[in-house]
Amino acid sequence: MSKDFTQSVFILIIATIVVASFSILVLIVPNIVRGPELAANSQAKPLTAIQVAGRDIYISEGCHVCHTQMVRPLEPEIKRNGRANQEPDDIYEFPNLWGSKRTGPDLTNLGRKYSDQWHVLHLVNPRDVIPSSIMPSYPWLFEQKLSGDDITDKMRTLRTLGVPYSDNDIADARLQVRGKTKGEALIHYLQSLGVDTAEEIR
Ligand code: HEC
Repeated sequence: MSKDFTQSVFILIIATIVVASFSILVLIVPNIVRGPELAANSQAKPLTAIQVAGRDIYISEGCHVCHTQMVRPLEPEIKRNGRANQEPDDIYEFPNLWGSKRTGPDLTNLGRKYSDQWHVLHLVNPRDVIPSSIMPSYPWLFEQKLSGDDITDKMRTLRTLGVPYSDNDIADARLQVRGKTKGEALIHYLQSLGVDTAEEIR
């Protein structure tokens, strides 16, 4: 049987390079070129240190597995979840938390919807406020305290990625986070969701 091109390692390597280069071209290059324009049009505000700490709890507890932060520009979704996501909203999101599975409601515009106290009750035991809820309970969030030891490095890393933190923001970060419970930090983050873009005319 004669060899065809599917058996050639050389063609495989060349084809891989072509496909990978195409991905870089369409996914990465436009972001580099359009980054400054997006930043100029963005209403997004960088998260404060305590909100950054809360966002990390959101990720480590897997909240993004059940909750999206992506309202698509479709009438029913906007009615249910508020303003649709726009491209410049996410310039300070590393990584983005759009999610893909909507077991719970979308949280893009959650900030200001409930009081802090509601969030405490809901996180400790969702059934206390929504009797039919299937969301897991997270009581330990209000028992475990944050040391704040790693927050300075996290803020510095975010700054290298383009989040405009000042030296003061970074110097104050540890004091803001130290001694707070994980739950408090998480609620600071939840209350910030969508608040920076909320004033925009829909
Ligand atoms: C197993 C899936 C699941 C996980 C994991 C999960 N949730 Fe939920 N969540 C739900 C469901 C279902 C609801 C709707 C019922 C309710 O309000 O409890 C909900 C509701 C909510 C609401 C109320 C939203 C609204 O607009 O009324 C908030 C806030 C929330 N979750 C935050 C969180 C946070 C923070 C975490 C991580 C600590 C988390 N959820 C983890 C499934 C989940």
